[in-house]
Amino acid sequence: MNSFQFQNPTQIVFGPGTVSKLGELVQPYGRNVLLVYGSGSIKRTGLYDQVIAQLNAIGARMYELPDVEPNPRLSTVHKGIELARAHSIDLILAVGGGSVIDAAKAIAVGVPYEGDVWDFCIRKAVIREGLPLGTVLTLAATGSEMNGNSVITNWETQQKRAFGSRFAYPRFSILDPELTYTVPASHTVNGAVDIMSHVFEQYFSLTANTPLQERFCEGILQTVIENVELALADPQHADARANLLWAGTMALNGIIGVGVQQDWASHGIEHEISAIYDIPHGAGLSIVFPNWMKYVYQERIDRFVQYAVRVWGVDPSGKTPEETALAGIERTRAFFTRIGAQATLAEFGIGADKLERMAEEAVRFGPLGSFKKLERDDVLRILQMSL
Ligand code: NZQ
Ligand code: ZN
Repeated sequence: MNSFQFQNPTQIVFGPGTVSKLGELVQPYGRNVLLVYGSGSIKRTGLYDQVIAQLNAIGARMYELPDVEPNPRLSTVHKGIELARAHSIDLILAVGGGSVIDAAKAIAVGVPYEGDVWDFCIRKAVIREGLPLGTVLTLAATGSEMNGNSVITNWETQQKRAFGSRFAYPRFSILDPELTYTVPASHTVNGAVDIMSHVFEQYFSLTANTPLQERFCEGILQTVIENVELALADPQHADARANLLWAGTMALNGIIGVGVQQDWASHGIEHEISAIYDIPHGAGLSIVFPNWMKYVYQERIDRFVQYAVRVWGVDPSGKTPEETALAGIERTRAFFTRIGAQATLAEFGIGADKLERMAEEAVRFGPLGSFKKLERDDVLRILQMSL
């Protein structure tokens, strides 16, 4: 295990009906609240009215930034920064999925910065402060509710970039599983694939002697596998929705990856795809990840054998390590397909024409990943396998 430091400041308020705590959570930060949300799901579900009632009850002055896009755009973040500055906002309140939360984070760190917030995404500037941020999460997927990361798309340059900062952690996040009952099947699936992918990025590692981290990872993977089909069959399955929600948070709040060299190549490749084609993040991962696995498994076959045996129950007897490892990868692909996730870029009408450009962009800061360091041609090969 590697040496590490760990701190996660986000207060989690988990459980059915916890939106009723919103007023008391917001109150200490001041009166001016910027409410950030997406394209209308919170209005259709009635959550918007609940949030407004809570804020009214504490006498908050509310300003709104609606219509944050899935794969949130820099132009929308700019609008939010202007609003927040114009109204001396005390707290940014994100109500939605990862996209809404990520946009709110970029607004929070962008307000006190005199340059363009995009500088943080292209590593041109370091984040030194941020406005307080709170969230009400409505979709189990990204873990953004309990981490300091944000992923923003600059549509003009077709670049999707992430930043991470201790100043971008939510101060609090409300996780009410009932708020996820209305998530449609496609986004339930995309979220499940995203959660599993976050675990993969931290589990397929060359670091030795990390049994606790590995078992955390295997536990989260099995929890998602056991619960996503229950939620698909019955969208109001209380236990399944609760377990998916907590699995999503645990997969990317930093705990399972401490002391471990992490990879993140597949996320890097996916971000290049969604930057150009605007496909859902989880769908891109469902296409890319099994191909990444096939491309890299020989770097550390024992970890892939462990994955196959412990997560998928593959019987290794009578099989070579390679056969066992490949059986685990096949089970992954088959599971993604069974729950309705995409397997090829062609399913989104994406052809070979921009693969080279994506591969070049993916390695702009150097090779991707650590399990196997991927150069441009490696990324291109994985993209070609994904066609
Ligand atoms: O926009 P609205 O109307 O709210 O609808 C959303 C959106 O269309 C809908 N939705 C959300 N909650 C719902 C609901 N519909 C009905 N009922 C509900 N309760 O779902 C759609 C997708 O929402 P989105 O927020 O885009 O999904 P997700 O949470 O998967 O976020 C994806 C974004 O997060 C980034 C991705 O790259 C992508 O931009 N990521 C952020 C990470 C982070 N901050 O740590 C890590 C991830 O790896 C990821 O890269
Ligand atoms: Zn992800």
